[in-house]
Amino acid sequence: MNTMEIPRKYDRVIVYRITQDCNMRCRFCSYSCDVKRKRDSADPELIDSFSEVLGEYRRLTGKNILVSWIGGEPFLYKDIIPLSKRLHSLGICVSATTNGTLLSESIIRDICGLFSEIVISLDSFEDCNDDVRQLSGHFSMVSEKIRLLNRIRSETGSGVKIKVNTILMRRNIADFERFCQYLAELGVDEITFNRLGGYDRPEFFGENRLLYSQSEKFAAELQSIKERLAERGLVIHGSKKYMERFMTAAQDIPSPIEECSPGSYFWFINENGFISPCSYTSYEYMYDLREIKRPADIDRAEEYFREMRRSCRSKWCADCFCTQVYDKFE
Ligand SMILES: C[S@@+](CC[C@H](N)C(=O)[O-])C[C@H]1O[C@@H](n2cnc3c(N)ncnc32)[C@H](O)[C@@H]1O
Ligand code: SF4
Ligand code: SF4
Repeated sequence: MNTMEIPRKYDRVIVYRITQDCNMRCRFCSYSCDVKRKRDSADPELIDSFSEVLGEYRRLTGKNILVSWIGGEPFLYKDIIPLSKRLHSLGICVSATTNGTLLSESIIRDICGLFSEIVISLDSFEDCNDDVRQLSGHFSMVSEKIRLLNRIRSETGSGVKIKVNTILMRRNIADFERFCQYLAELGVDEITFNRLGGYDRPEFFGENRLLYSQSEKFAAELQSIKERLAERGLVIHGSKKYMERFMTAAQDIPSPIEECSPGSYFWFINENGFISPCSYTSYEYMYDLREIKRPADIDRAEEYFREMRRSCRSKWCADCFCTQVYDKFE
């Protein structure tokens, strides 16, 4: 299915991984401080000149664009606020996905003034979250930050959306509805969820991945959970198509994608300034951000990705894990 057929809030979403550094040791993630790996960060000047082109593109086309910072931990990147200010001044919407640890009151005020949304990661209640994230007190600290965000947003009249992203795994999926009720009471607006993925930390994945029976039960119940939580003011994302992907993944059935409209709606940019249609193909379908010098170059990148997919298809497309292709956010 062409992802452009679905009406969306944004015409273009750019997820920008600004740093591979992190300050946490989550047991499921390859950016954990426990993992020895390459740790690069983005060049702020490159982001600044790209922002200018993006602002011009927005001015010419009227398109609604979201730039979403990710990491590692994006709030470790010292230029995150000045770069967000610049994008905001150019009419580009800004977001970030964060572990919440670095959200001081002053950063929260910046977020309320500049960001369209903030996504905080929390993996169910304290016993599960603090264990899998290997940080005692993380659950209660993040809960406090969400309360503070909510208070400052009301005081300042900010329209920032507060979102939580949660990982569903064997030990926490049964608590999902109760966890959503808790988030609704905290003042969270929306929740998205990932199934635990195995690519990053296979040793953790084996013992913690969702069982097929759990995925099947969850898929059957999701719509009624959504309806009950909607009454409490919480939007739960995840379409039928997203749940179908849950089920195939739980059975290790590959999901080849013929048409993902690469780069038409979604871009991933890595810390070294390479654009790709998703985070899996950063070094296969890469298009150098330094080639984007004027607004027309933005649409040219899409043609390039289409050609690359035709001529030298990535192995990832034969079993695509990319959540936006399966409408995680619908
Ligand atoms: C890589 S983190 C980067 C942002 C930030 N450090 C954080 O934790 O929110 C982005 C998202 O990926 C999720 N994630 C990390 N490893 C995962 C895995 N193995 N399976 C599913 N989601 C994962 C995290 O929970 C987080 O919501
Ligand atoms: S999930 Fe986020 S906080 Fe945890 S190790 Fe990965 S990047 Fe760091
Ligand atoms: S792996 Fe990436 S490029 Fe391939 S089908 Fe999925 S989203 Fe498209």
